[in-house]
Amino acid sequence: MEPKRLSSKRKMNWNRKDLLGLEELSREEIEIILDTAKSFKEVSTRPVKKVPALRGKTVVNLFFEPSTRTKTSFELAAKRLSADVLNFEVSTSSVSKGETIVDTAKNIEAMKVDCFIVRHSISGAPLIISRAVTAAVINAGDGCHEHPTQALLDLFTIKEVFGKVSGLKVTIIGDIYHSRVARSNIWGLVKLGAKVVVCGPPTLIPKGIEKTGVSVCYSLSEAVGDADVVYLLRIQKERQQENFFPSQAEYRRFFGFDSKRSVFTKDKFFLMHPGPMNRGLEISTEMAEKENSLILQQVTNGIAVRMAVLYLTVRQIQ
Ligand code: CP
Repeated sequence: MEPKRLSSKRKMNWNRKDLLGLEELSREEIEIILDTAKSFKEVSTRPVKKVPALRGKTVVNLFFEPSTRTKTSFELAAKRLSADVLNFEVSTSSVSKGETIVDTAKNIEAMKVDCFIVRHSISGAPLIISRAVTAAVINAGDGCHEHPTQALLDLFTIKEVFGKVSGLKVTIIGDIYHSRVARSNIWGLVKLGAKVVVCGPPTLIPKGIEKTGVSVCYSLSEAVGDADVVYLLRIQKERQQENFFPSQAEYRRFFGFDSKRSVFTKDKFFLMHPGPMNRGLEISTEMAEKENSLILQQVTNGIAVRMAVLYLTVRQIQ
């Protein structure tokens, strides 16, 4: 079954077997994914949550880093398209004997699989694999580089809530420096015409980030004041070898989202977070669970967006 609202003109304009990042996608390609996802969203509300779009195809989850949302979401998305799914267990594989990621991917590909979903702590790992295999490769988060499907599900959610992305003010707060989620969101939001503001401790804002089309604001109240969407990032303790801020208490004091701050009592904005949340650090439980929080809606939309990405890319492999 083809998604209903995907026009043949749009279908012809998608010709990538890989999705490695939003930097290389055009605005039109991003819109093709979002339109395709819209047509797939309904599948997950059916009593039988399945369409035969990728029947006979095999998708491999190749996760070299932990994941809850992305891995589960890709597995469910692939199964709802009727693909077979292999969850490769890195810890019990020959990777632990020193086998390279390219050899690992090529050996699995020799068993006739159609798609690799790759998460790795090293930026560029999915690109390296994509050059070595003919199967489709989808980046599920690589180092501090990109997490394209996270940004796509965020764009989808914003569009679902506001009916558009263009013209909205989206403020991204936190560890921009280490965040692949921030990078992919910046590429996508700017391409779709949003006004993007980044805010956080100066040590966690990359120098020259304005060149990507965003503004930098160090005042939390100014950054949040007239925002339509506030996107909080996770403080990535595992990627901080140096001390980028004096202490967690200090971060919470200046940038933590807590309903005690008067600027947050207006609730004019919608709140987003990619997960996993550090409750009590970048976000309080109360803020995470308020009615303006889109956090679980983001997770729900991840399935439709990943169904769209799988559908568009795997169909390029014959
Ligand atoms: N947002 C996200 O990538 O979450 P996981 O690490 O659980 O996949």
